[in-house]
Amino acid sequence: MVELQNVAKKYTMGETEVRALRGLDLNITKEEFVAIVGPSGSGKSTLMHIIGALDIPDEGRVLLDGTDISEYDENELANLRGNKVGFVFQTFNLIHTLSSLENVALPLTFHGISKSDREDRAAELLEMVGLGDRMDHKPAELSGGEQQRVSIARALVNDPDILLADEPTGNLDSDTGKDIMELIEGLNRDKGMTIVLVTHNPRDAEYADRIVNMIDGKISNGEHDNGGGS
Ligand SMILES: Nc1ncnc2c1ncn2[C@@H]1O[C@H](COP(=O)(O)OP(=O)(O)OP(=O)(O)O)[C@@H](O)[C@H]1O
Ligand SMILES: [Mg+2]
Repeated sequence: MVELQNVAKKYTMGETEVRALRGLDLNITKEEFVAIVGPSGSGKSTLMHIIGALDIPDEGRVLLDGTDISEYDENELANLRGNKVGFVFQTFNLIHTLSSLENVALPLTFHGISKSDREDRAAELLEMVGLGDRMDHKPAELSGGEQQRVSIARALVNDPDILLADEPTGNLDSDTGKDIMELIEGLNRDKGMTIVLVTHNPRDAEYADRIVNMIDGKISNGEHDNGGGS
């Protein structure tokens, strides 16, 4: 469902040029759970942004369901982001003035769905992530793990084909991180959600079907089947 062919991306900062991705090939199949690991600065987040259409490559092709999106304009990319991908970040990225319910319902605002339908859908997802009793809480009134659950519910509200999680347990203690990993694993196992997880934590990577190692903007030969998984 995701196919990257010889993808390159560089950032220019004044005089210096950083080659964040250097000719990277990666295929992710439907319902797969892939973990991306590698040192800081190896290009993991850059790769996630490109898979999620938050950014476009300088070179190479990005195929989503067989369609090359590397030539898409900003409108087409925004449309894709709104419908096909859900993002979860290390820092949750919730809006502090909004309740859990409002945060989760927010991405539905521009889809011509009535307020009550938006809230019903958001409530359903908050129930699913185990926060049925925290709908009216604002982020500051929630624990870190609860905030991450809200952000996962928000990522799922548009019924995406793929969930992209960049260090989702990075700001959580290890027990809470395990709860979040079990939630993510359940989405893959029970709902067949395609998942790409970036993690520094070998224990989190073990949940995936496959581990992809990145070094210096490329996938190293260490890519391997993760034995366990589903
Ligand atoms: N917006 C940007 N402008 C300039 N350089 C950037 C930008 N984003 C990333 N980079 C550079 O590109 C390289 C890859 O960054 P990236 O964020 O993808 O790494 P990462 O593997 O996610 O690292 P970490 O594990 O620390 O999150 C780094 O050297 C970084 O400094
Ligand atoms: Mg990163």
